[in-house]
Formats: sequence, C-alpha cells, structure tokens
Amino acid sequence: MKFDTKVVRAGISPDPTTGSILPPIYQTATYVLEEVGKDRGFDYTRSSNPTRQVLEANLAAIEGGEYAISFASGMSAVDAVLKLVSAGDHVVAGDDVYGGVTRHFDNILIRYGIDFTYVDSTQPEAVRDAITPKTKLLWLETPTNPLLKITDLDAMVAIGKEHDLIVGVDSTFATPVFLRPLEFGIDIVMHSTTKYLSGHNQLIGGVLVTNRQDLFDQMKYIQKTIGAVSSPFDCWLNLMGLKTLHLRMARHAETAGKVAEYLEAHPKIERVLYPGLASHPQHDLAKAQMSGFSGMISFELTGGTEAGRRLMNSVKLFYLAESLGGVETMITHPATMTHAEVPVEDRRKRGLSDGLVRLSVGIEDAEDILDDLDQALAKA
Ligand SMILES: Cc1ncc(COP(=O)(O)O)c(C=O)c1O
Repeated sequence: MKFDTKVVRAGISPDPTTGSILPPIYQTATYVLEEVGKDRGFDYTRSSNPTRQVLEANLAAIEGGEYAISFASGMSAVDAVLKLVSAGDHVVAGDDVYGGVTRHFDNILIRYGIDFTYVDSTQPEAVRDAITPKTKLLWLETPTNPLLKITDLDAMVAIGKEHDLIVGVDSTFATPVFLRPLEFGIDIVMHSTTKYLSGHNQLIGGVLVTNRQDLFDQMKYIQKTIGAVSSPFDCWLNLMGLKTLHLRMARHAETAGKVAEYLEAHPKIERVLYPGLASHPQHDLAKAQMSGFSGMISFELTGGTEAGRRLMNSVKLFYLAESLGGVETMITHPATMTHAEVPVEDRRKRGLSDGLVRLSVGIEDAEDILDDLDQALAKA
C-alpha cells in the first residue's frame, strides 16, 4: 500500500461478525475464557483490547514501524520510555522539548535518581559532548515545541550507535505525513495523538512506535503493569480522525506556508520561525529531512510582550487555547500557557521569550485566517 492508502486502510478490515465498515468499540474491561487457560486472544483491557489493537496496527503502518502501543496521553507515552532507564542513569534531552516533558523530568523523575542534561539538539557536537558513561537515552523533538528547531536525525542515530544509546524522537509536530524517523534508524517514535494524529481536539492520547522487539516488549510490559491505556472509545475516535490525516496535513502545511510568508513581510513582526521559510536557520536540513513543513509557526512582534498580548486578545476567528494540531486555528502564548512551568531563567536560556506567540494553523479558508491575523495585528 502507498502511504495515503495506509492512512485510510492499514490494519482495518470490516467486522467479521456484522460486516460493519468501522471497527466496533469494544467497551469492555474483561473477556470470558472458553476454559481454564484458554482465552480468545484477550483477557483484560489493561493488557489489550480489540479496538486499541486496530488503532495500533494503523499507527504502526503509517509510521513505518513493526510495533505500536497506544497510550492514554502523550505524556504517559513519554513516561513509559523513561521507565526504560533506572536510578543512576543519565538522559540527554533537547533543550526545546515540550514544557510538560521538562516538568516531568525535572520535578518528578529526578526524584527517582535519573539525571538529565539539556542541550541544543541542532548542534550534534553539543549532544555528543553531553554524553557520559551513564547516559542511556537520547530524547529529542523535531521540529521542537515551540521554537521549531530541526534535529538532524542522521547525526543523532550516529551518536546513538557510537554510545549504545536508545534514541527516542517526539515527532508530534511533523506527523508521519512529513517525517518518519524510524526510516532514519531512530529507535522509538512518540506522538501526542491529541494533536494532528486525531486532529479534531476530540481526545487526549499518545503512541510509541518502534521496530525493536526488545524495546516493544519492555514498553508493553510497563504499560500493561501501570495501565496508562487509551480507552476503547478514544481509540475509535482516533481511528476516525486518522482517516483524513494526509488531507488535513497537506492543507495545514499549505496554509501555514502562506501565513509564514505574510508574517515575515509584516512590519510589526520581528522574527518568524517556520522551517519552510528560507530564512529559517535550518531550512536546508528541514527540506532534506522532511517532505513538508507542517502547520506550526512561532513568531515575535517588534512591540514585544505587550504587543503579543494585544494580538492574542484581539483574534476573532482563532481560538486562544492550549494544544495544537486541530482543524481550528489556535493561537498560544507559550510563556504563560504550554511552558508556564519551565522556570523563567530556563526559558530565557532556551531562547523562549515572553513575547513569543505560537500559531497552530488550521484548515479553514486561508483568506479568513489571514484576515483575522491582519485585523489583530492592526490592534497590536
Ligand atoms: C510536542 C509535544 N509532545 C508531547 C505532548 C504531551 O502530550 P499530551 O498532552 O497528549 O499528554 C505535547 C502536548 O502539548 C506536545 O506538544
């Protein structure tokens, strides 16, 4: 199957009992055994569920992986990866990973004896220099949230091999439509399926995809033991959202390109971060590594924080909201919303200014999106 066909069809077949074109929602906690020691492939929904299995088969196919595990949230998927390491181990992470990930590492996991070093993942030498004999995991994002930095996956795989590390990539912003990190040799791909992969702000979910059976077995065991599973209904909703992933992403990216160009030419805009712009410091790498630039844009206004605040309070069509990747255009203020719990000094060090505005460009008519931005910028 070609990619677009996989999105619509992979892992999904009509229900054998009724012919239902959509997989049934197996809303059950448990399964009756035929006799002692003999079940029909399922025993308890914390371990597995037929609706979840269909979603996992579809997600594995579109990410180009052997195995997928569907989680109750993106964060619980990240947590399962971090449970592959033990007290005394060290993790190197990109310095512009999602704020909730930093919160988990710095406020919770650190108490369990795991050490973290953050580095600019656009600089392979800095990544290499941060590795110690105790390093077990490299945790990366590309493009990063919210500065849209591009991480060179070939370089990261080489570093991982040199030092025998597990390399994990949060590919939420890119989606498998534009980037498939497993094809580069990355060990684990993670998505917050809350975002583009479900696409309509209808659920909270996450997924891990891998080609390595050893990692799959461990992560599946961790999930089955703890139970951060996605509910059958959420799995079904996710499957519905996924069917149009390729169409949605093409539109998100097309309109985001127009919005980025509009912003770059606007006199009230100081800088625009969008990997599709020639002015992006890693535009060439983005072009080589990705087949499109997705729908996320960050920018700063010449009037700084106050102008940004006025802009965000003046939008009419856009929603001022946390999250991203839905069909509706959303505007976010990372410093007070998604990254509010990252200490202010750390935000400054990362280059995440208080004036930074993040846009998740939706699939409404591009003219309406540009008009709303135009009227809001006039007030900023
Ligand atoms: C890049 C990225 N990774 C992970 C997460 C966490 O996912 P979730 O909110 O589904 O737990 C988010 C949420 O915003 C995100 O943007």
